[in-house]
Amino acid sequence: TSIEPRIFALFGAFGDLALRKLFPALYQLDRAELLSADTRIIALSRQTTDRTEAQALIKEKLVRHVAHPHINDLILERFVERIECLSIEFSKPSDFDSLAEKVGANTPIIAFFATPASVYGSICAGLASAGLAERCDVVLEKPIGHDLASFHEVSDAVSRYFPENRTYRIDHYLGKDTVQNLSALRFANNLFGSQWNQNHISHVEITVAETVGIEGRWGYFDQAGQLRDMIQNHLMQLLCLIAMDPPPDLSANSIRDEKVKVLKSLVPISSEKLKDNLVLGQYRAGNLQGTTVPGYLEEEGANSESTTETFVALRVEISNWRWIGVPFYLRTGKRMAKKLSEIVVHFKAPPHSIFLPEHGQIISNRLIIRLQPNEGISLSVMTTDRGLERGMQLRSEPLRLNFADSSANSRIPDAYERLLLEVMKGQQNLFVRKDEIECAWKWCDQLIANCKAQGISPDNYAAGSWGPEAAMKLMDRDGRSWHDDD
Ligand code: BG6
Repeated sequence: TSIEPRIFALFGAFGDLALRKLFPALYQLDRAELLSADTRIIALSRQTTDRTEAQALIKEKLVRHVAHPHINDLILERFVERIECLSIEFSKPSDFDSLAEKVGANTPIIAFFATPASVYGSICAGLASAGLAERCDVVLEKPIGHDLASFHEVSDAVSRYFPENRTYRIDHYLGKDTVQNLSALRFANNLFGSQWNQNHISHVEITVAETVGIEGRWGYFDQAGQLRDMIQNHLMQLLCLIAMDPPPDLSANSIRDEKVKVLKSLVPISSEKLKDNLVLGQYRAGNLQGTTVPGYLEEEGANSESTTETFVALRVEISNWRWIGVPFYLRTGKRMAKKLSEIVVHFKAPPHSIFLPEHGQIISNRLIIRLQPNEGISLSVMTTDRGLERGMQLRSEPLRLNFADSSANSRIPDAYERLLLEVMKGQQNLFVRKDEIECAWKWCDQLIANCKAQGISPDNYAAGSWGPEAAMKLMDRDGRSWHDDD
């Protein structure tokens, strides 16, 4: 298929997201010959920027962030030549005339908003007033708002100029390779499809553990906290993809309809139930993989009184025919023992055992879906020892599928590469529809309000650990424990 020329208009082009993720992703698309020769990138920012200096900065960042395969100098030169700079005041619609002049006529524009959501509305107004809205798709980064009310404010300001089918709301977890594989796993394998319900599954865990701390983002993070930063979006999306019914087809709206149904069936956690179903944590100084790191309250720019949570563990229920009685345990935190994102589906034990105590214990099957690192899928199955003299000894062994080994060039693309390519193709499957975000905010708003009313504050945990003790107890109460990766 021929690749049409595009103009990428990157708002907030010198911010952390653009430098760390967007330019590297665009470089990789260029390397894979997925950008047409005349595709251009316009780096938009408030401050005046000299083109040569900007190109040098972006080059330097690319060399730092593109690890695999190593930067190719020829492609790097070709890539930075695509980049032009323009300084405009995002809140001044009349400033956008200079953008209109720069982009010229006809070429479709992809406007990527890597700025705080508070300026999304004025950027849209600017694009419209410069007559660019009709040929422009807008890509919005999370977080969009701080709660349902502020989400609506931003969303209304955008939808005044851009219809839903030209609005792409990013949740970059949807672009991760293993997340892509979830649909294939669930809906192309009857082995799993037929077992995917409360008759056969006892519980599900979703863990997104990070080793990073706040990374100089105190101003944003302290206002948000881990619930808004991670649960409201990434973990909710993973939950939806694991729990949703099979959509009638693979169209964006069919998939999103099913995700919304899951969110609508998510049982709110009432004030009385908070204590047994929610754990908040905040990291203290600790030892992370051999290095001493400061606590949350000692981070750069910190306010030492903050009670913002950097860790959340939740036990949630989905009240529908498929999942009634199956708890979903979610946990996510900063400065945890290791970087690990995985979903563990625990199957029920066989209904009857014919084995004797001396044969050993039956360990229920577990399907482990690993998002990062070491992307892959593994299924634990019961086997027996193969020695002659020992007789039958049951043991659990993994059947493993490692995506890096099995993918053709052993390079797993970054989420943003896939997402930008999907925007270019006009495919919305991997983007979040407005009502999904509304449902997720509604659920989280209620949880946050209940926490506030109950005066719940985070427990401490040492950086480099797996979170507060209470998170272990959350599982322990149900006679379970978090899947131990070691
Ligand atoms: C972002 C959050 O959306 O996701 C960050 O704002 C978080 O706080 C990041 O660190 C995690 O993404 P990944 O791809 O590194 O797991």
